[in-house]
Amino acid sequence: MAEQFDVVLSEKTYTPDHSCKQNSWIGDYTKAYDAFLKDPDAFWDRAAKELYWFTPYKKVKEWNYPYARWFIGGKTNITYNCLDRHVMSSRKNKVALIWRGEDDTERIYTYRQLFREVLKVANGLKKLGVKKGDRVCIYMPIVPEQIISMLACARIGAVHSVVFGGFGAAALNSRITGAGAKVVITADATFRRGKTIPLKHIIEEAIINAPTVEYVVVLRRELHQPVEIHSEMEIDFYDMIKDVRPECEPEIMDAEDPLFILYTSGSTGAPKGIVHTCGGYMVGAHYTSKNVLDIKDNDVYWCTADPGWITGHSYVVYGPLSLGATLVVTESTPDFPDPGVYWRMIEEFGVTIFYTAPTAIRMFMKLGEEWPDKSNLSSLRILASVGEPLNPEAFEWFYRVAGKGKCPLIDTWWQTETGMHMVTTTVGEPMMPGFAGKPIPGVVADVVDKDGKPVPPGTGGFLAIKEPWPSMMRSVYNDEERYLKYWHTIPGYYAVGDLAVKNKNGYIMVLGRSDDLIVVAGHNIGTAEVESALVSHQAVAESAVIGKPDPVKGNIIKAFVILRQGHTASDRLKNELLYHVRITLGPIAMPSEIDFVTSLPRTRSGKIMRRVLKAKEMGMDPGDISTLDE
Ligand code: WTA
Repeated sequence: MAEQFDVVLSEKTYTPDHSCKQNSWIGDYTKAYDAFLKDPDAFWDRAAKELYWFTPYKKVKEWNYPYARWFIGGKTNITYNCLDRHVMSSRKNKVALIWRGEDDTERIYTYRQLFREVLKVANGLKKLGVKKGDRVCIYMPIVPEQIISMLACARIGAVHSVVFGGFGAAALNSRITGAGAKVVITADATFRRGKTIPLKHIIEEAIINAPTVEYVVVLRRELHQPVEIHSEMEIDFYDMIKDVRPECEPEIMDAEDPLFILYTSGSTGAPKGIVHTCGGYMVGAHYTSKNVLDIKDNDVYWCTADPGWITGHSYVVYGPLSLGATLVVTESTPDFPDPGVYWRMIEEFGVTIFYTAPTAIRMFMKLGEEWPDKSNLSSLRILASVGEPLNPEAFEWFYRVAGKGKCPLIDTWWQTETGMHMVTTTVGEPMMPGFAGKPIPGVVADVVDKDGKPVPPGTGGFLAIKEPWPSMMRSVYNDEERYLKYWHTIPGYYAVGDLAVKNKNGYIMVLGRSDDLIVVAGHNIGTAEVESALVSHQAVAESAVIGKPDPVKGNIIKAFVILRQGHTASDRLKNELLYHVRITLGPIAMPSEIDFVTSLPRTRSGKIMRRVLKAKEMGMDPGDISTLDE
């Protein structure tokens, strides 16, 4: 990309009612930010003291660029903060989780019931020989058992690695072997738009060449035609917990012990296993759930993310439960059985905080206002968005149609690697459509050039973060070099890989990725992974993949393919390639367009210049092509 570029910025602002700020946890942004700047360690110490520690930490942090340790010497267990604390209080019989299935079934867990289930599964895993530090892969649809399994791992100190249920066998295999998982917890099927999608054959294929896997635990949902449990290795989820007691002391975890690994696509090569810790991550997720999402005891909170992504980890599971919130979780898609389903759920459950993604908002826009207008949405008090830039049109629509112009709408920018929100407008502050907002209290971020020099307002640059924060990733699992790359790209900063621009008020607008990641419907897809899936098909010699802007999904995947000799381009082959990517990586990584070409633009050193392909695709000037080979 061009080193620097100018962006014309709108100044449109919405100022929420004064009472929003007055009643929010965070209060006045500037005051809170100043308190942080005055003494960052004291600020995070206050945040951490809201949680329970078996042994108090001796020191808030140690920062040895680019390695941080937080809450040194502190001992805790995140499940103690998410469950025991509430069960020992008046929240004991409070609803923790309202789950609505695709087929309209409903399951409700109070804190006490959720606690019981977690302890049983924790004991079940122990019975299988799972110990502190062992990795457990969770590959499940959005069912209560998915959340229960995550918490059960955390209870006994096992490190969970949740893999989104939409990934295919090869993607799952690389994540299982990457983490060296001992146990995989899965389900026989996922239900989607009225259809049953079998999952078990995917796992069967994914564990071939995964020698660390000792057991596969299968949740059987298809009760009419239960899948067979074939081998010694397989065990039924409920058989595992049939004879166990709902008593299991929390494993005493050091603040710096790993809590989970979550794989995220890399711009090159294999996906990266982002490692988060028990102490710092817990504090970050708790602090932001409270101060950004403003969750209060009487809220009914609904985040539509799959727990298989970081948004689900931090803002479906750990953050909200640490606050003792009532969560709504659903397996349904927003347009089945009809496009009114989400709006009806808001009315039915009395949802007060609704956290979703721009791609869903744009889909709602396309489906029309008549759907939300059929439901009474007056319970809503806060709207929030995450995953990709919330464009001004989508902001306006969501703010007006869902929030009736009365609810603060916060656009939260963050990443798997950051573990918690980093840049957003906080509740009660003026909102500017198109802008995520300012760094939250606790975070120092800026828009800089490649040398780390802040660029002036209105000039585009790299979004970068300066100081450490508690929930920052501690490592990339088994890949030190890739960890260092985040901190060694822009001197003195953590380089996030996004382009951004600031306005004169310090509000940050995120423009998109600066590397070879494509954000499709809010999910990061690495060009490298899709390209290698394509090349693994016998007809393909080479391929290049780009993101092409799309009005609903943000981007779609477009692939350029050079065929091997002896193969000819045809629609049939195109479909075959699509199917091949689908079974290898999963439906989310499937290209929407494939072009057969005879050559690809390259640098003289042989690297494919994807930005030239992209510029050509969009009818734009390809910029500097001096390194382009003839
Ligand atoms: C993008 C998701 C603009 C961005 C929490 C980031 C966003 C990547 C926003 C991380 C937002 C996320 N505005 N872009 N509010 N939120 N992104 O790891 O490119 O799945 O780097 O974490 O999504 O995606 P990840």
